[in-house]
Amino acid sequence: QPVYLSDYQPPAYRVIHTELTFDLDPAQTRVKARLSFERHPDVEATTPLFLNGEQLTLTSLAIEGQPLDESAYRVDEYGLTIERVPASFTLESEVSIAPEANTALEGLYQSKGMYCTQCEAEGFRRITYYPDRPDVMATFRVTVIGDKSREPVLLANGNLIEKGELEGNRHFVTWEDPHPKPCYLFALVAGDLKKIEDHFTTMNGRKVTLQLWVEAENVSKTEHAMASLKRAMTWDEETYGREYDLDLFMIVAVNDFNMGAMENKGLNIFNSAAVLTHPDTATDAAFQQVEGIVAHEYFHNWSGNRVTCRDWFQLSLKEGFTVFRDQCFSADTNSAPVKRIQDVSFFRTAQFAEDAGPTAHPVRPDHYIEITNFYTLTVYEKGAEIVRMLCNLVGWDAFRRGSDLYFSRFDGQAVTIEDFVTCMEEVSGVDLGQFMRWYEQAGTPEIDAHGEYDYAHAEYHLTLRQRTPATPGQTDKEPLHIPVRMGLVGTKSGQDLTLTLDGEKQGKDTVVHLRGDEQTFVFTEVAEAPVPSLLRHFSAPVKMHFPYSREDLAFLLTHDSDGFNRWDAGQRLAMLALDDLIAAHRNGVEKVMDSRVTDAYRALLASPTDDKAVLAEMLALPTEAYIAEQQPLVDIDAIHAAREFVRQSLAMALRDEFIAVYEANQSNERYAPTPEQIGQRSLKNVALSYLMSIEDEQAIVFCQTQFEAEHNMTDVRHALTLLVHSDRDEMASPALKAFGEKWAHDPLVMDQWFTIQVTRPQEDALERVKHLMQHPAFSLKNPNKVRALIGAFAQNRINFHRLDGAGYALLADVVIELNRLNPEIAARLITPLTRWQRFDETRQALMHKQLERIKAQPLSSNVYEVVEKALA
Ligand code: ARG
Ligand code: ZN
Repeated sequence: QPVYLSDYQPPAYRVIHTELTFDLDPAQTRVKARLSFERHPDVEATTPLFLNGEQLTLTSLAIEGQPLDESAYRVDEYGLTIERVPASFTLESEVSIAPEANTALEGLYQSKGMYCTQCEAEGFRRITYYPDRPDVMATFRVTVIGDKSREPVLLANGNLIEKGELEGNRHFVTWEDPHPKPCYLFALVAGDLKKIEDHFTTMNGRKVTLQLWVEAENVSKTEHAMASLKRAMTWDEETYGREYDLDLFMIVAVNDFNMGAMENKGLNIFNSAAVLTHPDTATDAAFQQVEGIVAHEYFHNWSGNRVTCRDWFQLSLKEGFTVFRDQCFSADTNSAPVKRIQDVSFFRTAQFAEDAGPTAHPVRPDHYIEITNFYTLTVYEKGAEIVRMLCNLVGWDAFRRGSDLYFSRFDGQAVTIEDFVTCMEEVSGVDLGQFMRWYEQAGTPEIDAHGEYDYAHAEYHLTLRQRTPATPGQTDKEPLHIPVRMGLVGTKSGQDLTLTLDGEKQGKDTVVHLRGDEQTFVFTEVAEAPVPSLLRHFSAPVKMHFPYSREDLAFLLTHDSDGFNRWDAGQRLAMLALDDLIAAHRNGVEKVMDSRVTDAYRALLASPTDDKAVLAEMLALPTEAYIAEQQPLVDIDAIHAAREFVRQSLAMALRDEFIAVYEANQSNERYAPTPEQIGQRSLKNVALSYLMSIEDEQAIVFCQTQFEAEHNMTDVRHALTLLVHSDRDEMASPALKAFGEKWAHDPLVMDQWFTIQVTRPQEDALERVKHLMQHPAFSLKNPNKVRALIGAFAQNRINFHRLDGAGYALLADVVIELNRLNPEIAARLITPLTRWQRFDETRQALMHKQLERIKAQPLSSNVYEVVEKALA
């Protein structure tokens, strides 16, 4: 059942041109296809033609206009095989499909009555018989026929070339996409949509019409996405020399969508949560996410569409590169240090956990059962970290030349990760042979570092030892080429020292290249004892262990010239204190707050800062999920208790400082998602969180006032969350009720309303989930709702991991039901259960039991693959 990378064969038959006609109907959409095929010259004439096709009702089939006799072809649950075909021919087929019954949201489906498609990775085979693989690229001409009243708008990829009226209140539009593309980039949208239009003139003077298509009530939520799109178009021209290549670029917002968005050529389809914003309904985080996703999908036009993947094992070729591109765009547009801190902090929590669990896989997997299970943090985020390392290894100038070479050499082709890396190697002359292992080896490499200062010789010896733990199917790991960016901070001067390595002056910041299992780097002319600042900017996706003392960390926290590592020093310092408290909790010993941590935070609050967003990040404690990731065995209760203890201790010790920060950062400025305003709001709200951890009377007034002021959703949601997560039910309940009533008409706000309730630490969280699943605004068929309620609850660690197992049972119930409705979402939802080996025996057994219960059901291949790995 698995597919293997090593089995790759080029297609025997290619499609040169594709013509499709859709006659839309909820229960019976008729799809006519007219495909021009050519046999590969090296392939034998006797080779049968295989076309993918699933859940299709075939109504006619002809070659060169001649209907095919039933004996000439075979249909099974995976597709259609025709025994003998000519070297070049036209195949015509007609099938019927039922978009209204499509709850998997793959292929053609309906969302609130509107027709839309999701074809990546293998959804096109649910639309028509076709070689559904990315290395078959054709030009497309698509006619959509719909009802004039229900579907006044009919969209597909490319340029609109014809439209007209038909009998019976129907009409049609014909679209043509001149750029050859794989079928996963096909898209169709039909419905009653309103458009917002703008224009962009490209660097070579092409005038592009930009359209955002939404339901009428969402027109007021489109400004930010449109502005983001224009910024992204400019950035890609300036940074990568990439220009848009059609006269029209469209984005459509749909309510029911499995992922964030999809880069279909000229017609991007977005989860409404990933494109719609308004100051009253969306938080700062949502504004920033929308900007990043709009850019991400736009950037795919080159990194993904013009140059695509040969097969799905190469998924990171387009995703890793495109995530790297969108991260850089957001860093350039907002606060660069904050962007890096947030990305790394998420990465080290979620991707590290994936890499340490039973579904760990290389960035380029070598086999899979269900490709939708491989749209993972590893393929996307670790893939982006690899591209970032590549960029740093060869330097930006060479990286840009390599990127130019890649786009020109492979334009219009479907290629591999080697093709990309080879371009970088060619332009830079850097040997990237060993570096390729990053794509092949799963698991997070760990570096044990040791440093010794030799006062007599003024030398600093840094020894780095690497190891990558075994992962499923990969027991022996080879050493990786790990670039470690670093500096030595002098303890006397408090400054970065000038580095001399192997007799060569390096400046104050350098990269040492760890290639072997263990290497020692000797720095000479080191005039004072230093504290090393390692892995600056998170220069490689590894765990760096160094025996820092708390004094070292407090020193780096204030003296490191690298903002990212200053933040990291704070996190490490907090972790040391948390470790002690976790142990104390376990041993039933009284908890004592480490005064060095309190002092460090006091110093932070006193230090002048121009980047408030960075300060907010520095003040934030590691999350429970991150702390768990650092523990050999996750002790849910001890982690929660320890973290709460630190939060409350800091709040008590620094109460006046937090109050002052809160008051100083109040603002009545008109809302704008600018980095300055966002920084100010984050800082103010971090302070408020600390104060609310001790339910400070003054803070409760702040919360109530901030909630009632309704200045913007960031502030309102934060205040409401703090109230609902406090024990002040007499204030929380009316606020929650008012909010729910005010926003009952807005599904994206109701998602937030669900999340706020089910993430509360109180014991009733699970009962609230069950209760809210009956709420009229909830639906298991809508992925955003599932994520907002069930997904969010599974992140509520103390409650999801309840010792009676009720949290696990609830998740399993939902997985079992979703397995029938939407296998992709069901498979993703299981993730927290797959991590069972990290917990105590009682919880292990409870989680195991639920996995077994799921496994006993008739399963989709998606859920099967995940459960199978989890139990292996
Ligand atoms: N290519 C899309 C993106 O990264 C995601 C498509 C996801 N498809 C899927 N079946 N999960 O922007
Ligand atoms: Zn993508």
